[in-house]
Amino acid sequence: MVKSDKNDYSNYYCGIDITKLKFIGQGTQGKVFFLPPDKVIKVFHSKHSCKNQLLILQNVSKSRFFTKVYDNDEFSIVMDFVPGITLKEYLNNNSLSEKLALELVELICEFEKLGFTRLDIRAPHIFVQADESIRIIDPRKTYTIVQKYPVKILSTLERAGVLEQFFRMIKDKYNDKYLQWKNLY
Ligand SMILES: Nc1ncnc2c1ncn2[C@@H]1O[C@H](COP(=O)(O)OP(=O)(O)O)[C@@H](O)[C@H]1O
Ligand SMILES: [Mg+2]
Repeated sequence: MVKSDKNDYSNYYCGIDITKLKFIGQGTQGKVFFLPPDKVIKVFHSKHSCKNQLLILQNVSKSRFFTKVYDNDEFSIVMDFVPGITLKEYLNNNSLSEKLALELVELICEFEKLGFTRLDIRAPHIFVQADESIRIIDPRKTYTIVQKYPVKILSTLERAGVLEQFFRMIKDKYNDKYLQWKNLY
C-alpha cells in the first residue's frame, strides 16, 4: 500500500467535526460515529477501502437491505444508521421466526440479483430490526470472493441450534435453495 493511501486523521470528515460525535463501533477498516438523528459517518484507515465500500454501496443503492449513501470524501462515507441487533445477538435471546428465516433467503436472492459472486455475509454485519426484517452493514469483496452459498449464515444458525428449523421453514417457499444449501453445507 502506498503511503498516500493512509488516513492522517484530521478531526473533519465530510465537513463534520467527528470529535463531537458518539463513537459506535470499529472493525479492521475504520471507525463509525453516530450522526444524529439517523445517520452514521464511517471513517476509513485507507482511501482504497473507502472507495471500494463506496462503489459497492452505490451499486446496491436501490436495495432495501443496504444503507443509503448521503455524502462521502476520500476517507469517509455518510450513510444510514441501522438500528437493531446483530443476528448472533438476536439468536442468543430469541427463537427463529419464519419471517426471519425467509428474510435471510431473500437477502441471498438479492445478492444474486445484484450480481454478487460472494453469496454470503458475516453474521455481525446482519442486523435484525424490530419487525424481524434484516439490514446489512459493511459489504466487502462482494464481487471478488466467490462463495456459492451462505456458509457463514448457515454456521451461525447451526451454532444457535436452529439450522434444522431454518431448513424446515424455507423448504416449501424456496425449495431450490433448500436443496442446494443442504447439499453443499
Ligand atoms: N450503518 C451502521 N449503523 C449502525 N451501526 C453501524 C453501522 N455501520 C457500522 N456500525 C457499527 O460499527 C461497527 C464497525 O463498522 P464496520 O462497517 O463493520 O467497520 P469495518 O469495515 O472496519 O469492519 C459495526 O460492527 C457496527 O457495530
Ligand atoms: Mg466490519
